[in-house]
Amino acid sequence: MENLIEILDKRFASAFAACGYDEKLGKVTLSNRPDLCEFQCNGSMAGAKLYKKAPIVIANEVLEKLDKSEIFTSVQAVPPGFINIIVSDQFVSDYLSKMQADANLGLETAKVPQTIIVDYGGPNVAKPLHIGHLRSAIIGESLKRTARKMGHKVYGDIHLGDWGYQMGLIITEVKERQPNLPYFDENFTGEYPADAPFTISELEEIYPTASNKAKADETYREAALHATYLLQNGNPGYTALWKQIMAVSVADLKKNYGNLNVTFDLWMGESDAQKYIPDMVEKLKKDGFAKEDDGALVVDVTEPEDKKEVPPCIILKSDGAALYSTTDLATIVQREADFHPDAMTYLADKRQDMHFLQVFRTAKKTGLIPETCQLSFLGFGTMNGKDGKPFKTRDGGVMRLESLITEIEEEVYQKIMENRETDEKEAKDTAKIVGLAALKYGDLSNQAAKDYVFDIERFISFEGNTGPYILYTMVRIKSILKKYQETGGTLSSGQIAITDNASGKALMLEVAKYNEVVETTFAERAPHKLCAFVYDVANAFNKFYHETKILGEEDEVKKESYLALLQLTLKVLEECIDLLGFEAPERM
Ligand code: ARG
Repeated sequence: MENLIEILDKRFASAFAACGYDEKLGKVTLSNRPDLCEFQCNGSMAGAKLYKKAPIVIANEVLEKLDKSEIFTSVQAVPPGFINIIVSDQFVSDYLSKMQADANLGLETAKVPQTIIVDYGGPNVAKPLHIGHLRSAIIGESLKRTARKMGHKVYGDIHLGDWGYQMGLIITEVKERQPNLPYFDENFTGEYPADAPFTISELEEIYPTASNKAKADETYREAALHATYLLQNGNPGYTALWKQIMAVSVADLKKNYGNLNVTFDLWMGESDAQKYIPDMVEKLKKDGFAKEDDGALVVDVTEPEDKKEVPPCIILKSDGAALYSTTDLATIVQREADFHPDAMTYLADKRQDMHFLQVFRTAKKTGLIPETCQLSFLGFGTMNGKDGKPFKTRDGGVMRLESLITEIEEEVYQKIMENRETDEKEAKDTAKIVGLAALKYGDLSNQAAKDYVFDIERFISFEGNTGPYILYTMVRIKSILKKYQETGGTLSSGQIAITDNASGKALMLEVAKYNEVVETTFAERAPHKLCAFVYDVANAFNKFYHETKILGEEDEVKKESYLALLQLTLKVLEECIDLLGFEAPERM
C-alpha cells in the first residue's frame, strides 16, 4: 500500500509538472514545524535556483495547479517559498481504514523475494556466552525477523566458533584430568558412550583453565597445538570427543538463546567450512589472486580510492595454518554452494570491520561469490557500564549472559510486587517478559554502531524511552478493550472515522507510518528506527488516552471509531515489538 507521503508526493509531482517544472521537486516531507503544519513541500526553494525565479512565485504557481480535492484541510505557500500542508481528517481516517482491512497492515512485501543469510550470534563453543555476544544476538534476531517480514527467504546462521586451537586446549585439559577415557586410546573405533564426561559448567571452567596453563607452560601449549592438529586431521578419538563437547555446548546455547527469544535456522559453524578450504586455496592460487608474502599466502585487496591502509587478506599463515579470514571465505563458498544468497549480513563487534572488509573484497575480487551478492557488515559498539568502561559484574568479572538476564528479571519482579498485589507466579512470568523487553529495547533503541551505557534502572523504568514503557502502553490498550468487552461490547473492526480530535489525529498520523518505517528499518538495517517509531506511537497514544473519553464517549459511532483505532494501534505495536524480538504480557 502506498504510504501517506507517497500519496501526497504524487499530487505535488503532478502540480510541479503541470507548471513546467521538474516533477522531482514535488517531494513532501514530515513537517519540522509541527506547530504550523503536518507536512511540507520545499521544492520551490530548490526550483528557485534552477528556474531563476523567486521561490514564493513558484510555490503559488504550484498551488494553482495542485489537485486539492478531498485530501487537504489547508495548503499554504508561506515566505520565502515553503508549502505548508495540513491533511484532512477524512483522508487520514480512510487511510487507516485501508490499513486495518489489510492483513499485512499496508506493508508491501518484496515482489522478488531475495535469499538472505544473517550471520549472527557467533558464540564460541565451550566458552560461556557473555554480554559481548548479546548485542549480536539481539540485533541479528531483529534484522532476521524484519527481512522475513518483508517477504524475503531468510536464514539465520549462528556461525559457531567451534574449530581451531580453543578446541585443542579443551581436549588437552580433558585428557589431563581423565587420561583413561576411551577417546585417548590409540585403537579408538569411533564408538563412544552416550554420556559426556563433563557437564557444561565443567566445560566452561575447563577452557579458561587450559588457556591459562598454555600461557604459562610451553609443553602444555605444544600438547594443545598437537591436539588441535590431530583433531583437524580427523583423529577418530579426538573427533568423537569434539562431538561430545559440541553436543553439551550446543544444548546449553540453545537454552540460553531460547531464553532470549533468539532462534537460528542454521547451526553451522567454523568447522563446517573446513572441507571447502583446500579447493578454495587451490583456486585462489591457480587464478593468480593468492601470492606468497613472507612465507604466508595472501590476497591483495587494496583499491585505488582507499584512504586508509588496507592490509592484504591472509589466506594461510607461513606454517600453512588457516585463519579466521580463511574460514569466513570458505563459509562464503559453502553458502554460495548451498543457498546462492542474494545478500549476507554479518553481525560482530565493530572492531572487526577490517577483517570483514578484507574478506568481502577477497570474495568479490576472486569470484568466490557473484558481484551481485550484497555483503554487508553491521559492526556494533560496546555495551558499557555507568563508568563508561566495558560492562563488568560487581566484582569486576565479565558478566555472564545468564546472570544478566536473571538480574534484570529480579529487578522487574521487585518492581511489579511493589506496584500492586499480584500472585507470585504471575509476577514471575510477567517479569520474564518485561525483563527481556527491557534488555532488548535498551540495546536496540541505540544505533548499533554506537557504544551505549547499560543502565538497568533506566532500562526497566516504566516511563521514558524504554521497553517496559512500550509494554505498559500496550497493556493499557488491551485493558481498555477488555473492559469494553466485559461490559457487553463486541469488538468489531468498525470504520475509523475520527474528526475534530487533535490528539486522535496525531495518533493516526503516527500509526500511518508503519509500512514506511518497516521498509526503512529493513533497507538500512536499522532497528533503532523501529524503536523510535514504536516510542512515538506510544507517546501519541498516551496523549490521546489522556485527552479523550474513550469508553465514556456517548456517541456510539465515535466510540466505535476510537475502539477501532485502539485495535489498529495495538496491532501495529504488536507487529513492531515482534520484529524487535519481544512480546507484551496481558497485564503488568
Ligand atoms: N566467533 C566470533 C567472535 O566471537 C564472531 C563470529 C562473527 N561471524 C563471522 N562470520 N566471523 O568474535
